Amino acid sequence: MYEGFHKYIPFQPVPLPDRTWPDKVITKAPIWCSVDLRDGNQALIDPMNLEEKLRFFQTLVDIGFKEIEIGFPSSSETEYEICRTLIDRNLIPDDVTIQVLVQARPHLIKKTFEAIQGAKNVIVHFYNSTSTLQRKVVFKTDMQGVIDIAVNGAKLIKELTDEEVARTGMNIRYEYSPESFSGTEMDNAVAICEAVMDVLQPTPENKLILNLPNTVEMSTPNHHADQIEYFCRHIKNRDSLHPHNDRGTATAATELGLLAGAERVEGTLFGNGERTGNADIMNVAMNMYSQGVDPELDFSNIREIREIYEKCTRMKVHDRHPYAGNLVFTAFSGSHQDAIKKGIDYMREHDTQYWEVPYLPIDPADVGRKYEPIIRINSQSGKGGAAFIMQQSFGYELPKAMHPEFGAMVKAACDEAGRELLPNEIFDIFRAHYLDVKYPYNLKKYKLYEENDTEGETVVHFEGNLRFRHEDHLISAVGNGPIDAFFKALRTVGIHDYKFVTYREHAVSEGADSKAISYIQLTAPDGRTVFGVGMDGNISLASIKGIICAINRACSEQKDPEGEAK
Ligand code: KIV
Ligand code: ZN
Repeated sequence: MYEGFHKYIPFQPVPLPDRTWPDKVITKAPIWCSVDLRDGNQALIDPMNLEEKLRFFQTLVDIGFKEIEIGFPSSSETEYEICRTLIDRNLIPDDVTIQVLVQARPHLIKKTFEAIQGAKNVIVHFYNSTSTLQRKVVFKTDMQGVIDIAVNGAKLIKELTDEEVARTGMNIRYEYSPESFSGTEMDNAVAICEAVMDVLQPTPENKLILNLPNTVEMSTPNHHADQIEYFCRHIKNRDSLHPHNDRGTATAATELGLLAGAERVEGTLFGNGERTGNADIMNVAMNMYSQGVDPELDFSNIREIREIYEKCTRMKVHDRHPYAGNLVFTAFSGSHQDAIKKGIDYMREHDTQYWEVPYLPIDPADVGRKYEPIIRINSQSGKGGAAFIMQQSFGYELPKAMHPEFGAMVKAACDEAGRELLPNEIFDIFRAHYLDVKYPYNLKKYKLYEENDTEGETVVHFEGNLRFRHEDHLISAVGNGPIDAFFKALRTVGIHDYKFVTYREHAVSEGADSKAISYIQLTAPDGRTVFGVGMDGNISLASIKGIICAINRACSEQKDPEGEAK
């Protein structure tokens, strides 16, 4: 029996029967604050070096973050140095505010003010832990003791801010975090924040940011939202969320927290951070995007952002990570593939302004991803899946009548391989079954030219060297078009009774060149219909090659026993 659950105390929700957040929807982006360079960085096995932090900082600026927590400058020389480098090298755009974290302890606060000298816009973010559990087991103090720490910290910060502003005009804002907010009794959380506000005296123009960390996620997101709504009702302020992801629901907690009244979100890219991480800002932002809300952050190049993130943090983004994972725009199931194809066709045909493709919550192109990897083929894929890959990845538009035949070939190859096939492997099957079929007939040399006949009508001459098995036959004929001439030439060596059923051709680019590809469906003398494919720079020769391919495919012996049919 798995009995250990008895030792856990269930979370005690705040009673809020008249909660209003469940009926709300998110209609605008919050203020975003990236804590990648602090919360994210402190949770790395190898924290970022100066160069990596600078690169990451620039990436955050490029994405559009206007508030960036750059570190904990009083905690180490390295942290101090990054703060100084950003300021001294003038790397902080005027519209970006750097945020610096500090514990509510006097010597650390003083060092922090030294670190920010010369900056234009700064948020001084101070915190102390307030939770029931930490008071009991860590600080061994009552709530008043914890309030005193916060109030004394606030007094010193206010004093140093007033001096700094008078001296340099620096734009300093305050942020206070009752750390472990979600594990704190709500009336105590309100009391400590009120005490801090009494000291800092925020005004409507210069509000204090009250950050409400879900330091350890301990409840379902609805109970977290109740806590936020409770707090917002008691203190009207610029309340900020700082969710962690211990239960794996930080995205939901962030979204419900916004419904509950928060105006600001602290989090990281891809959810890096202590233990299971912080809230993933990219995820929350792209969720808004997918609902038609401008997230005010730009993830249109998510591959590059992910690459920089992986390089700097040495963390890996999971293959299933929303919007960014390798596999998130891939459909394995045949019915999904079919529906995606139909959705894409529908959008093209109807020129709709909305994204209306089943199974793809957003257009992969919106995050800089491509359509090619959307569908990969396994033995469950429908008959249209392989044709879709040929179209999306290689530009080959197989006629619909050919889909079942080619789909069956790909399915057989999947079954044999016992795994999914990649687009290149699907192309190899196509090549082997259609493009490289040059036995028993192989057209070695060919010439087409036009002439006027005795009655002044334009006629087409076909001349060629048709190899049958290992014998060359010079064939020639005149017809009213290239295909007519070729069929007549074939008759001179006894090939007749093949009839055209359908024909389709289109251009396909091969490197810098464009070639014509023809799909020819013939009826063989025994009544079977066969497809052949021909490709050539000359559209008429593409069709002629397609006819030979179809005839070869109708023959029982398609492999040269001497292995030289090239
Ligand atoms: O998770 C947390 O509580 C924090 C605070 C320092 C804001 O990171
Ligand atoms: Zn945190």
